[in-house]
Amino acid sequence: MTNTLDTVEGRVALGPRNKWYALCRSDRVQPGEMTRMSRAGEELVLWRDSAGTVHVQEDRCPHRGARLSHGVHMGDRLACNYHGVQVDAAGVVVSVPGSPGCALEGRRALRTFPVTERAGAVFAWFGDSEDAEPPELDVPEPIAGGEWDSFLCYVEWDAPWLYSLDNLMDPMHGAFLHRNSHTMAAGKREAMFQVRETDRGFFFEKTDQRGVNFDWSEWVDTGLQWVGLEIPYPDTAGPGGPFTIVATATPINENQHAAFFWRCRNVSGWQRDSWRFLYRMRLEQRHWQVLEQDRTMLEAMPPDAYARENLYQHDIALVRLRRLLRATAKKQLEAAAESPDVRAAANAR
Ligand code: FES
Ligand SMILES: [Fe+2]
Repeated sequence: MTNTLDTVEGRVALGPRNKWYALCRSDRVQPGEMTRMSRAGEELVLWRDSAGTVHVQEDRCPHRGARLSHGVHMGDRLACNYHGVQVDAAGVVVSVPGSPGCALEGRRALRTFPVTERAGAVFAWFGDSEDAEPPELDVPEPIAGGEWDSFLCYVEWDAPWLYSLDNLMDPMHGAFLHRNSHTMAAGKREAMFQVRETDRGFFFEKTDQRGVNFDWSEWVDTGLQWVGLEIPYPDTAGPGGPFTIVATATPINENQHAAFFWRCRNVSGWQRDSWRFLYRMRLEQRHWQVLEQDRTMLEAMPPDAYARENLYQHDIALVRLRRLLRATAKKQLEAAAESPDVRAAANAR
């Protein structure tokens, strides 16, 4: 298999390393089960130990590479079904039943990813070097709890993850693709945009309209790459101000991705209860319809869309984002070429 993480293009397509990525909804990983998935170019097995703590490891038995996800869940460890080798949550081989005492026993031989669960999702750190300590996940404020409440919508789409990033950093499509939506019918259908730098990324915003439609997006990279945006809500949607969306996307492979949309509102107490009720009863279905419009559009885009584009002023954010991702990928590959640790990790892939 070509190791595409070794090229700038591959790293952009599969996601830069040294980032937190959202992998799936928390409820996808059920007690006593092993859940297999591909994310950001890695084959993973996810499982919970008997205390309920989730673990993310490479889905590859350290003995001869069989899928651990085809093995047996033993509470605090997984046993490979091929020859019975047992590996614990730290990636240490704790038993080789067919050859007790062999050199493999006691070795940390399975790649294990730092993991945390927040806001109903499992996040893992994909480091270039396995041993580097990751920064703590900086949870976006609207999904960190407190005065905010949120619902997570999770999707898997047959399109490169970059198409979703482009889509999120393209507020103008709200006034066209979603023009029939109850929240995106208002306002002008022409706009001028500007980029505004922040210390964690940048805003891409209309210069002549705010608070009317989908009028701005914010790109944030604090170790987790995510996009924040607001859609104004009509008064009928109750208290809590505008509808805030925190979105992040994770490549599954070069042609598919998972996307996470937390629909958030600044509500607490009785307002929270009333919003949750309203959301379930009336709003959720409409939001899924909007997402369905995005899905249909993105999945139908040609795989080589970038090869024949004619971009205009509304696309500045996409250009900027692509440049950022390329620069990150390039820097990481240069660092990898200089670091024996990282080189070893790359060669082992
Ligand atoms: S391949 Fe897993 S025990 Fe042999
Ligand atoms: Fe959209």
